[in-house]
Amino acid sequence: MKISKRAKHHPRVTRTLPALRRAVAYFRGRGQSIALVPTMGALHEGHFSLVRRAQSRADCVVVSIFVNPTQFAPDEDLTTYPRTFAADVAALAERQVPLIWAPSVETMYPDGFATRVALEGPAAVGLEDASRPHFFVGVATVVAKLLTQCEPDFALFGEKDYQQLKVVTQLVRDLGLKTRIVGVPIVRERDGLALSSRNRYLTPAERQSAPVLYRALKEAAARVGAGGPIAEVLKQAREAVARSGLQVDYFEARNADTLKPLDPSAGEPIRLLVAARIGTSRLIDNVAV
Ligand code: PAJ
Repeated sequence: MKISKRAKHHPRVTRTLPALRRAVAYFRGRGQSIALVPTMGALHEGHFSLVRRAQSRADCVVVSIFVNPTQFAPDEDLTTYPRTFAADVAALAERQVPLIWAPSVETMYPDGFATRVALEGPAAVGLEDASRPHFFVGVATVVAKLLTQCEPDFALFGEKDYQQLKVVTQLVRDLGLKTRIVGVPIVRERDGLALSSRNRYLTPAERQSAPVLYRALKEAAARVGAGGPIAEVLKQAREAVARSGLQVDYFEARNADTLKPLDPSAGEPIRLLVAARIGTSRLIDNVAV
């Protein structure tokens, strides 16, 4: 059994804005830099990797745990989204996280709440935004709130949600926020499946099929990197995913910075991005070329 040498220190769990502001002011008063890791809880190794990166960047790490209703469509899984708060707090205690921001829905969106943050640019490129038109307004609104509430020096986001990372980066630039957005590489299972809080919804058979996404991405990236014909490579990748019983929403090659379609004449950085449905679940993944 692995026994942590450092004593466990229970994190301070704040649930109201005045309490959060007091806690942040306390750490600031001691001259500490602050990094925020926004999450919806049901924490796994992907989230913990963000926490570790945050700890390497800043003195004090704040993890927010908030299942944000505004980023779920009415037909999505808001009510059944996994909520494992006690286990999340214990895991963050284990990792010496000093502060958790866990507001209620009423605290974040009190009666009469009337503001929405909506972006174009990376939020309107026909990837996640096409399948989930409500999604980035909800994400941008909540992230804008989290960043102004915590005023962190850094905020860390996973490349798992690559378009989300680009949207948040654009948001911070456009609003002139002082926080620096840091992207963190995807944490995967041994067979390549990207870790996700929603993977627990997969049946054993679906779980077995799911790694086809990463295999198809890797193979397509290798072929595109070697100068293969992109349209043909993507077509075969879509077919490979479909053969494993997944329904492809998109499997695209995009400019890695802007997420716009590739300009054939320019030597741009390329990112391959995929979303596919299996049973009642929807999986997303991406790789660099
Ligand atoms: P959530 O899905 O809980 O993810 C929180 C953060 O963990 C995101 O930045 C996400 O990209 C990152 N993450 C998830 N799985 C990962 C993996 N396998 N490897 C690396 N990073 C991973 O994303 C959200 O919550 C919400 O949209 C949020 C930003 C909190 C706004 O509500």
